[in-house]
Amino acid sequence: MSNAAARLPLPPGPGPLASLRAYGRNPAVYFQKLFAEYGPVVRWRGYMDMYLLNNPDDVRTVLTQAWPRYTKRNIDYRVLRQTMGEGLVTSDGEFWARQRRLMQPMFHARVVNGFDAAINRATADLAARWRTRPADEAFALDREMSRLTFRIVGETLFGAGIEEYAEAVASLLDETNVNPKTLSALLTLWPWLPVPGNRRFKRHLQLLDDIVYGLIARRRASGEQREDLLGLLLAARDEHEQPMPDRQIRDEAITLLLAGHETSATALDWTFHLLGQHPDVEANLLHELQQVLRGAPATAADLARLPFLKQVVQESMRLYPPVWGLSRRAEQDAEFGGYRIPKDAYVVVLPYTLHRHPDWWEAPERFDPARFSPARSEGRHSYAYIPFSAGPRACIGIGMSMLEVQLVLAQLLPQFEVRTVPGHPVVPQPSVTYRPRFGVRATASVRA
Ligand code: HEM
Repeated sequence: MSNAAARLPLPPGPGPLASLRAYGRNPAVYFQKLFAEYGPVVRWRGYMDMYLLNNPDDVRTVLTQAWPRYTKRNIDYRVLRQTMGEGLVTSDGEFWARQRRLMQPMFHARVVNGFDAAINRATADLAARWRTRPADEAFALDREMSRLTFRIVGETLFGAGIEEYAEAVASLLDETNVNPKTLSALLTLWPWLPVPGNRRFKRHLQLLDDIVYGLIARRRASGEQREDLLGLLLAARDEHEQPMPDRQIRDEAITLLLAGHETSATALDWTFHLLGQHPDVEANLLHELQQVLRGAPATAADLARLPFLKQVVQESMRLYPPVWGLSRRAEQDAEFGGYRIPKDAYVVVLPYTLHRHPDWWEAPERFDPARFSPARSEGRHSYAYIPFSAGPRACIGIGMSMLEVQLVLAQLLPQFEVRTVPGHPVVPQPSVTYRPRFGVRATASVRA
């Protein structure tokens, strides 16, 4: 492959430094325009050279041939490593494979489905708070969803109440912005640089460390042998019967806390927003929930009887994939669509643009959950829809987040009419997650 590929032309694309402003406004939307103009393999020479792929077959090639061909050895993961260390999201190769095998059992459906009671309890507490609030009082829905999903990850995986830290962690994500594409995030690669962003970053990181090392110390001191993720990490032994170093337990724990809450919270934000904008879809969903649940919260087992609920969540994540783009490093020359992707290239695949690909989605901009019905899904390329990525490096939390998002909606929607405050712009900001730039100001009035 590499010799043949060496003779091929590089992919088409705009001239150097073209449209930095359009990129800055919204890279996902900008890249979608590039694909429409140049086809499914594009080279964008912006502030760095990027090779963008939008053909589902090509995307499959990149995502299934992970290590050693398409690795995470690039600037994005270097920045993420400043926070997550060598956890499951950022590590690669043999080391990653061993850690993944070790943690996989915690994410089996059998285990995850048992989280339904904890998810429902956390949601019921939120609902009780919402009931005490005047119907017309606006609040930050995004913050509340973030708090809720943080509590859920903390309780289910670490058996600990960590909700009190949710605000601090949200600030870490807001202020230091682990978005690798921002200057402040890039500067964290040189932590000794005395810029205010770095000082804030260190402070927040220290706090995260305190939370996690505190959890580890408390569990050890209690002598308790719980079968949650923390228990699993603490009990793990390598081939020399050595326990996992605390630093590695910290990296895995912080990775799961961060990867496992902002993503689900973003999915919930957009779903509430979309339902508020589409009362006909909301009415259909409420009808299904009422028929099946009759006012009770859903259990994991109930979800099989709530097909429209799942379709609503799938469609929301199609239009607003919480992880909108993924990058890799090509470790050798490769060919895509007759073009050369050179060794060491920064390769990008974009759930956002695949999910709006006109070849695979009819009227892609329309919010139409029924497009995920079995009949209408037939024949769709499996890589045209990848909110959780795919292949060996796919999200380990798919089952958990689908359960969580559906149960939260199933409990809150029948009780509250959630509406975005008129005049408050709900527009995306493609950071690491595709979250609403100004948050979501909303009201929640109790349904009669
Ligand atoms: C709606 C919710 C979620 C979405 C959309 C989502 C999406 C993703 C995506 C796209 C990746 C691939 C990232 C990459 O290639 O770098 C990923 C990886 C990962 N996710 Fe999620 N995720 C969600 C929820 C969760 C939850 C609840 C957890 C755990 C509690 C979790 C833990 C992880 C981990 C550990 C990885 C790295 C997997 C590996 O490489 O082995 N995620 N997720």
